[in-house]
Amino acid sequence: MNYSFLLDSIFDEMDASNPRKNLNRICKLLKENANSFDWVGFYIMNHKKRTLHLASYVGEKTDHLVIPFGKGICGQVADSGETYIAKDINTESNYIACSLKVKSEIVCPIYHGEKLVAQLDIDSHTPNAFGKNEIEFLEKLCLQIGQKMGAELHFDKFGL
Ligand code: SME
Repeated sequence: MNYSFLLDSIFDEMDASNPRKNLNRICKLLKENANSFDWVGFYIMNHKKRTLHLASYVGEKTDHLVIPFGKGICGQVADSGETYIAKDINTESNYIACSLKVKSEIVCPIYHGEKLVAQLDIDSHTPNAFGKNEIEFLEKLCLQIGQKMGAELHFDKFGL
């Protein structure tokens, strides 16, 4: 997979007035272009309530629309602020299962300046789907999302 080409094309058609549309588009592009990305979603951080809110996704319907900080992999990233890779979700002690088909997962934080505003969450039906290339690409993508549209991703502004 040519991730640098994908990274460029992701930001080709951003709509400055519609952050949700941009997130939807990114989810769709990621899922369509990477075989092992089976569920792709963005959670927005509500720091006042210490909860994560699902803003956009593609893949199977999920019940986990709101996740408390600390709970599951997303909740752990809300606390640590660092990318988390679950190579094999069966070995995770703090994990929220969305589908029995999921074998591995990555969650990358998205910062607007110093503030953690959102997360990108990707589930895969392939074990150990996130290698060095995927991690580098997704971290770069999240850095650029934060730089290009971070101001729109604050919970109060996003409007969930
Ligand atoms: N597995 C995640 C929950 C979100 S779903 O994957 C959509 C977690 O453990 O936080």
